[in-house]
Amino acid sequence: MTPHNTPEAPEAPLIRTLTPEDIPDWLRALNTGFLRPPAVSKEETEARGAGLVLPRTQGAYDGNRCVATFRSFPQQLTVVGGATVPADAISSVTVSPTHRRRGLLTRMMETDLAAARARGEVVATLIAAEYPIYGRYGFGPVTTTTEWTVDVARTGLDPRWAGPADGGRVDLVDADDVRRAGPALHDRFRRDRPGAISRDDRWWQIGTGVLRLSADPWKEPFYAQYRSASGEIEGLVSYESDDNWDDSNQPQNTATVNWLLAVTPAAERALWQYLCSIDWITRVRTGRRAPDDLLPQFLPDPRAARITTQSDWLWVRILDVERALEARTYAAAGTLVLEVTDESGPDGGRYLLRAAADGTATCARTTEDAQLTLSIADLATLWLGDDSAERLVALGRVRERQEGAASIADALLRTSRRPWCPDIF
Ligand SMILES: CC(C)(COP(=O)(O)OP(=O)(O)OC[C@H]1O[C@@H](n2cnc3c(N)ncnc32)[C@H](O)[C@@H]1OP(=O)(O)O)[C@@H](O)C(=O)NCCC(=O)NCCS
Repeated sequence: MTPHNTPEAPEAPLIRTLTPEDIPDWLRALNTGFLRPPAVSKEETEARGAGLVLPRTQGAYDGNRCVATFRSFPQQLTVVGGATVPADAISSVTVSPTHRRRGLLTRMMETDLAAARARGEVVATLIAAEYPIYGRYGFGPVTTTTEWTVDVARTGLDPRWAGPADGGRVDLVDADDVRRAGPALHDRFRRDRPGAISRDDRWWQIGTGVLRLSADPWKEPFYAQYRSASGEIEGLVSYESDDNWDDSNQPQNTATVNWLLAVTPAAERALWQYLCSIDWITRVRTGRRAPDDLLPQFLPDPRAARITTQSDWLWVRILDVERALEARTYAAAGTLVLEVTDESGPDGGRYLLRAAADGTATCARTTEDAQLTLSIADLATLWLGDDSAERLVALGRVRERQEGAASIADALLRTSRRPWCPDIF
């Protein structure tokens, strides 16, 4: 006998890629998952829909209603030494609160990563909303983001600064100038910084207000550029200010940097000094910077720059160990046998890394005895240079199978700067 008051087991939602007609409901589900007002206007649907690569955009459907979202798009990630690898950039990951913890994210992730492997992408990348979500899929944190707040009065900088002393100059420019000079400048920057990612034209349109993704009013930022003595644009900054006066009628304004892009230390120094010399600005919030950013040491009193945020930022899932390890350069010649564990994918196994004196390396599967055992996620962290093998051994995450192996790994993998990804996606 069938008890007639027992609810039937709910059918698992169907997961599929989108057609153009699906976009409005998919955006509604995305907004819901991110706790934003769910209604999406026609203009917003058009603007946001145009950024979707539909064959790489998944939705989960309970009946006709979209209850989970996931998308990916092509990206280039710079690795140590300046080469780039093709990356599967993952974004817009949400599962509606009514459908969480039933495996929907896991199903969408597996589909996406399998497609990325089939396309030959070397890594998958994402920015994690919360730390515990993505380790289970083999992602490890590979860059750290740091934000400082500078107390301008304490910097020791000359408030009467009248421009760079190196023959260069700082000028205010308009959004059109930024769209003209920005892409090439960014391309130069990102090829020199492990952890940096490519930006498309859309990024510059959104960043300069040409393309609006929501109905929220656009606040036009200020833009300034640094030109070297030879006339070359070497730096750009986008910043905003609040309008805040204290009880004694003194200005107490905070300049918030949206982004500051520089390809030379001179440009970086000049733009920070410019920001710290604007009348009425008493505090500068730096926005997302590298943990080893030069800014504090540009200030006569580095303590004027206080760290207000520090957190993991870009996460990477290596999809091809051999190509990933061969793409970067190495600080010393040597060999290392790694036993990689991979519970959520096919990349586990033993790999022999052979680094040559010119910094290049080969990597192939091997049957030789392993010197270090580590997870695919920890390999990503070490690969881009944001941590050391000795530290991960101390934390119990990496195991030395041969004494001294961690220090050999660190000698090979050592980098001169921390990796940095200034972007969110
Ligand atoms: C994060 C999110 C997408 C997970 O979706 P989901 O469909 O519930 O995930 P799954 O059911 O596939 O979970 C897989 C595993 O991850 C765990 N997990 C999922 N989200 C987690 C979280 N936020 N914190 C800790 N563990 C989490 C689940 O418990 C499950 O573990 P188990 O296999 O041991 O049972 C969903 O909770 C969500 O939309 N959150 C709000 C938006 C968000 O943070 N999106 C991520 C943007 S980067």
